[in-house]
This record gives sequence, C-alpha cells and structure tokens, in this order.
Amino acid sequence: MLPHVILYNAVSLDGRITGFNADIELYYDLVSKWDIDAVLMGSNTVLTGLGAEPGEIREEDLESLVNREKDPEDLRPFLVIPDSKGQIRIWDELFKMPYLRDIIVLCSKATPEEYLDFLKGRDIDYIIAGEKYVDLKGAMERLNSKYGIRSIRVDSGGILNGVLLNGGLADEIHLLIHPELVGNINESSIFISNDLNPLNNTIKLKLVHINKLKDDIIWIKYDIIK
Ligand SMILES: NC(=O)c1ccc[n+]([C@@H]2O[C@H](COP(=O)([O-])OP(=O)(O)OC[C@H]3O[C@@H](n4cnc5c(N)ncnc54)[C@H](OP(=O)(O)O)[C@@H]3O)[C@@H](O)[C@H]2O)c1
Repeated sequence: MLPHVILYNAVSLDGRITGFNADIELYYDLVSKWDIDAVLMGSNTVLTGLGAEPGEIREEDLESLVNREKDPEDLRPFLVIPDSKGQIRIWDELFKMPYLRDIIVLCSKATPEEYLDFLKGRDIDYIIAGEKYVDLKGAMERLNSKYGIRSIRVDSGGILNGVLLNGGLADEIHLLIHPELVGNINESSIFISNDLNPLNNTIKLKLVHINKLKDDIIWIKYDIIK
C-alpha cells in the first residue's frame, strides 16, 4: 500500500518558495497538530536548512548517535530523506530535531557502498530502491510495509515535489500563501518539472479548504485529482 502524501509549502503569492519572508513559526505551528507518520525531506532542503555543503563532515557525537534510544512506542514521525548520492553526512545534527522518532535514508543501486557503510556505522536505516535515482514509489511501498508508514508530509522544494507530482504519488497540496510578490525567476517554485505540461495535460486540483490566518496569510488546501 502507498502512504497518503501531502505536499506542504510556504509560498509567495507568485508561487515562489524562496526569496520572501516566510512565517516559519506559523508554518511549523500548523503542522505540529497534523497526525502523520513521516516527514519526507529533500536532500537539498536538508543541506540548505543546516547551511551545509554536499558531503560536508562536521564534528559529531558518534557514541550517543549509535546508542540513541529506539522506542517502539514512540509515536513521533520518522524523518525520511532521499539521498542517492550520499550527500548528507551531518546526521548528528538532524537527530537533534525534537519532533522526530528516527531517520530513514532512501538510497538507490547507484549509492556508493562507502556511504551505506557510513550509515551502518551510525545505525541509520536505509532502503535501496531504484537504479540511479530513488524509485520513490517502490521506496514508499517499503516504508509502508516495513515501518507501517501510512501518511507522509513532504517538506521539500520544487524538485522533489515535481518528482512526486509527475509520478502520481502526491494526494494533497497545502500552501501557506504569503502576501508578497517575489518576481525573481531564479527563486524556486513549488513544482519543478522538465516536461512542460501541455495545457490539456496539467495536474488538476480540487479546492477543499481555505482559511485566512494572521498577517493576511492564506492557508489553502487542494486535493490532487488523479
Ligand atoms: N518555502 C517552503 O515551504 C520550502 C520548504 C522546503 C524547502 N524549501 C526550499 O527549497 C529549496 C530546496 O529545494 P530543491 O527543489 O532544490 O530540492 P529538494 O526538493 O529539497 O531536494 C531534491 C530531492 O529530490 C530528489 N530527486 C531529484 N530527482 C529525483 C528523481 N528523478 N527521482 C527521485 N528523487 C529525485 C533528490 O534526491 P537525491 O539526493 O537522491 O538526488 C533530493 O532528495 C531550498 O532553498 C529550501 O530552503 C522551501
């Protein structure tokens, strides 16, 4: 079974996800009440968030990382990260996030063996799915069958959103629309796709919720019509 997948982004009115003053407190305050089993975070989002370069290594407390408590009764969400190229090495810092139960890395057959050993050395679970990139459908089926993950909130940029949308793997889109116009085409948007959809082949949405929050920010939720 495939988990239910919710894309969630803070955006400017012109659909950019960077280059404006996102209300981060509001963004996380809203999702803290959602009942989800996992957060799927793009590797670029992780690196940007931690201000790290791909492959960067920082000081880590390996002993407490390896001996961390794994409580089967823990109901907090997993953090799941596709990282087929083995770019993230600062796992110690990610485990300091308060909201997560444990981390699962999604790799592919192209992921260097050395990186898989790096993860094993930190007792971090990984799933191998796909040849070059991660086969997200196959990986999600495994997340469901092995870890019981039934619902996923995606915290990523337009690249991972794009792969999920084009693969028919996303079920809902939630946006926090901020009253700002960015206007810069170099700033990222919520949906990046190599294939420009012809007009009659766009992804269709159904509005299910709209709510004005503080400071003229709109929370809008659409179901994705499949
Ligand atoms: N405003 C918001 O709500 C918000 C939220 C999150 C992030 N952001 C911003 O978004 C930016 C990062 O976004 P981004 O779009 O550059 O990257 P991203 O979505 O964070 O990362 C790209 C992810 O897509 C995976 N991927 C790429 N091609 C794939 C394919 N063909 N099949 C399967 N997986 C594939 C990559 O996996 P591999 O590593 O395996 O290639 C990687 O994990 C940052 O600036 C961040 O601050 C904004």
